[in-house]
Amino acid sequence: MNQAVGRVAVVTGAARGIGQAIAVRLAEDGLAVAALDLDGAAAKATAERIIAAGGRASGIEADIADPDAVAAAIDIVNTELGLPAVLVNNAGVTRDNLLFKMTIEDWETVMGVHLRGAFLMTRAVQKYMVDAGWGRIVNLSSVSALGNRGQANYAAAKAGLQGFTRTLAIELGRFGITANAVAPGFIATDMTRATAERVGVPFDDYAAAAAERIPVGRPGRPEDIAHVVSFFASEGAGFVSGQIVYAAGGPSN
Ligand code: NAI
Repeated sequence: MNQAVGRVAVVTGAARGIGQAIAVRLAEDGLAVAALDLDGAAAKATAERIIAAGGRASGIEADIADPDAVAAAIDIVNTELGLPAVLVNNAGVTRDNLLFKMTIEDWETVMGVHLRGAFLMTRAVQKYMVDAGWGRIVNLSSVSALGNRGQANYAAAKAGLQGFTRTLAIELGRFGITANAVAPGFIATDMTRATAERVGVPFDDYAAAAAERIPVGRPGRPEDIAHVVSFFASEGAGFVSGQIVYAAGGPSN
């Protein structure tokens, strides 16, 4: 039996893209889902989609880099759905620039959402997982953790999340909590659309060029990443912890 069924999952950045696909997939797996996002209206739309399909969900507006907003959001999760047992730190932003043009704001914005945000969210929910003796934490890293031109800030944050993941696995394992990360390659979302726009290439051409470099011959879909998260969140994955799975349609570089 999948003991994850009926538990409460919190997914950040669930208004669109990969986070939305993760929220929908975990709901299909039988979990109640709190969809958190800066964009409260779109987060609520994700929740409504889940409810329309027969699931339990709540859409909550929150800036995960703000400790007060995180505390308030978790209070709403507790009241509306129950105590969180699964956390997916998915929310992300890019502020790409070559190093010599990168501003302190570009750096701090990216660190603030990915690292500070994942830290604040994880610190806020871990106590419920510890009390329950069961928990699943999944962080979104990226192939960019291995280094990517124009992404010194983002690559550092995504590599940082890998160290964070391994450390959570070590500290929290004895409480029945696993922590893992998925590191996607090229996934067609608004984030990669924005990158194509920035470099001045039509998105279809940009995606086709990416597909040529991907061994399975296609860009990734948000559902490809949701599938990996579903595995990490499942009851049966309880002996898998501190792992980074590169989901990139082939070996990462
Ligand atoms: P996206 O840009 O389509 O969606 C990100 C969501 O996060 C948005 O709804 C946004 O409002 C939300 N968000 C941003 N800052 C927030 C904050 N402070 N508080 C709450 N919510 C916030 O991005 P996408 O493509 O769906 O990416 C999801 C995750 O996957 C990110 O962590 C990203 O870095 C990672 N990723 C994406 C890849 C891709 O090719 N699309 C590749 C590798 C990793």
